[in-house]
Amino acid sequence: MRLLLIGGTGTIGAAVADAFTELGDEVVSASRSGDHSVDIVDRESIDRLFGAVGEIDAVVVAAGKVPSVALADATGEDFDAGFASKLGGQISVVLAALPRLADGGSITLTSGILAQHAVPGSVVTAAVNGALEGFVARAALDLPRGLRINAVSPTIVLEPGETSEAFRGFRSVTAPEVAQAYVRSAYGIETGQVFRVW
Ligand SMILES: NC(=O)c1ccc[n+]([C@@H]2O[C@H](COP(=O)([O-])OP(=O)(O)OC[C@H]3O[C@@H](n4cnc5c(N)ncnc54)[C@H](OP(=O)(O)O)[C@@H]3O)[C@@H](O)[C@H]2O)c1
Repeated sequence: MRLLLIGGTGTIGAAVADAFTELGDEVVSASRSGDHSVDIVDRESIDRLFGAVGEIDAVVVAAGKVPSVALADATGEDFDAGFASKLGGQISVVLAALPRLADGGSITLTSGILAQHAVPGSVVTAAVNGALEGFVARAALDLPRGLRINAVSPTIVLEPGETSEAFRGFRSVTAPEVAQAYVRSAYGIETGQVFRVW
């Protein structure tokens, strides 16, 4: 399988790259500072990336930034920033991927536990992740040529023994555990799903 991985240098993305590489897949890794340069908030850079990498069988996006802010302190710009990056950026990747994915190919986006559960300052993330999960469910119904789309929704990702004050009492997972959900999405037959790694 030939995989385009956006965010391949990040906490989750690096583990995704390792998981697919171990399976013998070719991983083309892209990010703002990577060999293959892309900024998911810049549609022209996404088009340039897809033009440069050629045909692919699977796309994974493990990128997207959302401001952490309480509702009382949140501004319209905070919501705009979260929507532009994690929601709009991932949707832009889907739109660019559609004509370039091989028949039967897959797209796997990244949501997160804050769509359903709360920690302080998670109101923008909840809006972004909730919208993203709605998009994935409906987009799956419209995809041509046997293409599939899913999202992975991790809880907080930590190293073994590491803790997070904000996520006290939450179960944490390791990046390699999360990476297996992307493998499941790309190798499986399911579509329109959110794979929760909680
Ligand atoms: N880590 C967690 O605990 C956790 C839990 C639930 C959900 N998530 C979600 O998982 C996703 C990845 O999280 P992470 O913790 O792995 O992030 P991370 O460690 O900060 O890595 C982000 C990756 O995306 C790239 N990137 C950032 N902005 C980009 C942009 N505008 N265009 C293209 N690439 C960009 C970064 O590289 P460059 O800086 O070179 O661009 C890097 O490769 C995020 O959407 C996050 O909300 C994470």
